Amino acid sequence: MESCLPILLHSLCFLSHVLQISYALDSISAGENITDGQTIVSAGGKFELGFFSPGSSKNRYVGIWYKKIPDRRVVWVANRENPLSDSSGVLKLTPQGVLTLLNRTNGVIWSCNVSRLAQNPITQLLDSANFVVKEGNDNELDDAIWQSFDHPCDSFLAGMKFGIDRAKGLDRYLTSWKSTDDPSPGDFTYRLDSLGYPQLILRNRSVVQYRGVPQLKPNPVYKFGFIFNKNEIYYYFNILNSSITSILVLKENGIAERFTAIDQTRGWIWYNPTQTDDCDTYAFCGANGNCNWFVPKYPIDWGFGDWSNGCVRRTKLDCRGGDEFLKNTQVKLPDTRLSWFNESMNLQECEQTCLGNCSCMAYSNLDISGQGSGCLLWFGDLIDIRQFNENGQDIYVRMAASEVGGSSSGNTGARKRTGIIVSIVLSVVFLLVITVIYMKYKKAGKVLAFSRQSHSEDLELPLFDLTTIVNATNNFSDDNKLGEGGFGAVYKGVLKNGQEIAVKRLSESSRQGQVEFKNEIVYITKLQHRNLVKILGCCIEQDEMMLIYEFLPNRSLDCFIFDQEKCVSLDWPMRFTIINGIASGLLYLHRDSRLRIIHRDLKAENILLDNERNAKISDFGLARSFGGNESEASTKRVVGTFGYMSPEYAINGFYSVKSDVFSFGVLVLEIVSGKRNRGFNHPDNRLSLLGYAWTLLRDQKFMELIDPSIASTFNPVEVLRSIHVALLCVQNNPHDRPEMSSVVTMLSSESTLPQPKQPGFFDETSVSEASSSSNSKHNNYSANEVTISQLLPR
Ligand SMILES: *[C@@H]1O[C@H](CO)[C@@H](O)[C@H](O)[C@H]1NC(C)=O
Ligand SMILES: *[C@@H]1O[C@H](CO)[C@@H](O)[C@H](O)[C@H]1NC(C)=O
Ligand SMILES: *[C@@H]1O[C@H](CO)[C@@H](O)[C@H](O)[C@H]1NC(C)=O
Ligand SMILES: *[C@@H]1O[C@H](CO)[C@@H](O)[C@H](O)[C@H]1NC(C)=O
Ligand SMILES: *[C@@H]1O[C@H](CO)[C@@H](O)[C@H](O)[C@H]1NC(C)=O
Ligand SMILES: *[C@@H]1O[C@H](CO)[C@@H](O)[C@H](O)[C@H]1NC(C)=O
Ligand SMILES: *[C@@H]1O[C@H](CO)[C@@H](O)[C@H](O)[C@H]1NC(C)=O
Repeated sequence: MESCLPILLHSLCFLSHVLQISYALDSISAGENITDGQTIVSAGGKFELGFFSPGSSKNRYVGIWYKKIPDRRVVWVANRENPLSDSSGVLKLTPQGVLTLLNRTNGVIWSCNVSRLAQNPITQLLDSANFVVKEGNDNELDDAIWQSFDHPCDSFLAGMKFGIDRAKGLDRYLTSWKSTDDPSPGDFTYRLDSLGYPQLILRNRSVVQYRGVPQLKPNPVYKFGFIFNKNEIYYYFNILNSSITSILVLKENGIAERFTAIDQTRGWIWYNPTQTDDCDTYAFCGANGNCNWFVPKYPIDWGFGDWSNGCVRRTKLDCRGGDEFLKNTQVKLPDTRLSWFNESMNLQECEQTCLGNCSCMAYSNLDISGQGSGCLLWFGDLIDIRQFNENGQDIYVRMAASEVGGSSSGNTGARKRTGIIVSIVLSVVFLLVITVIYMKYKKAGKVLAFSRQSHSEDLELPLFDLTTIVNATNNFSDDNKLGEGGFGAVYKGVLKNGQEIAVKRLSESSRQGQVEFKNEIVYITKLQHRNLVKILGCCIEQDEMMLIYEFLPNRSLDCFIFDQEKCVSLDWPMRFTIINGIASGLLYLHRDSRLRIIHRDLKAENILLDNERNAKISDFGLARSFGGNESEASTKRVVGTFGYMSPEYAINGFYSVKSDVFSFGVLVLEIVSGKRNRGFNHPDNRLSLLGYAWTLLRDQKFMELIDPSIASTFNPVEVLRSIHVALLCVQNNPHDRPEMSSVVTMLSSESTLPQPKQPGFFDETSVSEASSSSNSKHNNYSANEVTISQLLPR
């Protein structure tokens, strides 16, 4: 008998051990508690809640883990940021329904944040791992007073809503642990971003690391879903085979990884990390990072990190009806933060909307699963776009028509031929109309003939009646006045046929104005280019002399780039288009026009913008023609605008096409930086804008030059190239500066550029020396339509 005692004692010990386990509850009611050592087990036996110490730490935390799977993974932690230092903790439900974690001295270590107080609360651990506080008699989860699923830690579990509930003010997202020993929030977050079309974004602090939902592709284990309505935007997933366990964890190293257990007793299998290759890392492969449609951008001298190694279009977009869309299948849709969407549009309306906006780069169906309706548009670069082998989506990328032609889509060729025929017919009709109008004017004897010594051809320009102009401008009323120039005012007018015009009226007193007036007529009537302002005619009657131009409602460039409020409306793509427009207008003046002209007064005030913000060079009052061999000239009368004048012109009066190139360079730096060259003075180093830009480029810090208002829209490759080309244009020695033809090529190619030498007017001293030796006056009158620099004879 005696020998039985130890056996009995042993059984009793064993029994007590069993008893302790079976002591576990699945719920606690108001006033009840569990202490360190006790646990709560979900009714189905899958999950357990209790006190634990992570890794090698001695700290105690309250958490939830899979009960049966070895290699414990804690899926939720209550007191992440505030551990207990010993095993004295008590988790208690107050009669009001507040879960509270107390330490030895009854200090509150953690408590749940409830929106309302309960009558008869209980707390229950569900078999999904959701730990809820609710009214004891209430089984509706939606009425839960509090639930752990609304406050996730690093794990995304089946049944959880990953995203935003606007009505309840919830934003449920994952935060990594600091380390395997420390569950407090680490650097990484994985969160729904609702800027543009909603998407998941994984960040290292604020730096985007990865975008999208990992492994959306169909698989036998789970299925993702996405809910998007007025109040709620969230992802969820369901397990397809209830005998399988699977969760998504944002690990402490910043990788979102799926953990799956097929047989619960055999533990976890890690698989499918989110980032499966380098291009999965956000924007690692650069803007437009799919080189199937774009050509690779060569690494540039100063290396701009990964970003610059993206791809660029083979052919510039035309945006005047010359673009088409190329369908690409099986792609990971690009970053939607710069997107716009409409749920009710169909794909055709979507295409039309995209076509109608020059900054729209691509469109796709809105539905994540790819079959529904809806329209998603992208503006600016397509960032983080990827080709998938399966389960990608369709996207339609805007391409120059010349590139889409010859592609697989069969009817493009036919469409193109039709296009050509239509445009030929239109051109013929247009010519006919012009001829008819011209004949009418000629018959009426209303063609003004001017002659000039050097060019003895007759200049023919439509003549307007004074009464027509008086009526159009409401008798030159002040309301119609757009601005005041050096030799008179500029008025807005509307002709009887509705056409809007700008009228530059020479004041009677200005003798100098008459010279410029004729100069302008001589030149501008012979010039025709889409980047030059168009003259419609003139009016010379009684004592009046007036020039009539097309009206450009967007006024001049200076209003946009130097104006704190308006400047936002010129994003980088527009600015780049403007830079290229000015370059091609100037190239036309220097090389391609019949006259070969040096403008001599290129500045922001003389760049007008049309409806689509295309640049139009205006004001040819100071322009000079140069003969075939003659490429340089000098003048005793230095006219122009300080800040844009090249050193050799400002100081010695030498001008050439290279003085325009200098002004162009200044203009580009102003467009990129949003700062005026004139008056710029860096507080630290006394550099001019040119000197400052040159120094920043040399020190590889060109980002500091960029106008903050284009921070979100600029393309670093284009910006860097623009700055570099501009600095080549403002080099001190005119012979070092490129011709406009090279400028145009350099702006649009990827070729390596020479290092710019130190610019003219590098610092304050060089600027003030030139300023005092120059005979030019600084006063410029910015009439909003047409700007005139005042001329002062020596
Ligand atoms: C926890 O509950 C036990 C009995 O259920 C009670 O004796 C004890 O005082 C409670 N502790 C706290 C901190 O409420
Ligand atoms: C218990 O928690 C309270 C409040 O956090 C704190 O002030 C107190 O020092 C803690 N006591 C012990 C023994 O840790
Ligand atoms: C509790 O909720 C209030 C109001 O919603 C909020 O301001 C506070 O930060 C929350 N506290 C915690 C610990 O979540
Ligand atoms: C996260 O960012 C920090 C700097 O903020 C960096 O040191 C660390 O390497 C980054 N981690 C990863 C995984 O990229
Ligand atoms: C669920 O998974 C188990 C284990 O892999 C497998 O044996 C079973 O056939 C699956 N059930 C279904 C319905 O697919
Ligand atoms: C979405 O598109 C439909 C159909 O074109 C249009 O009626 C509706 O106004 C659009 N909604 C928004 C918010 O633009
Ligand atoms: C093009 O779309 C952008 C972004 O939505 C918008 O800011 C801009 O005004 C649009 N431009 C035109 C001409 O509609």
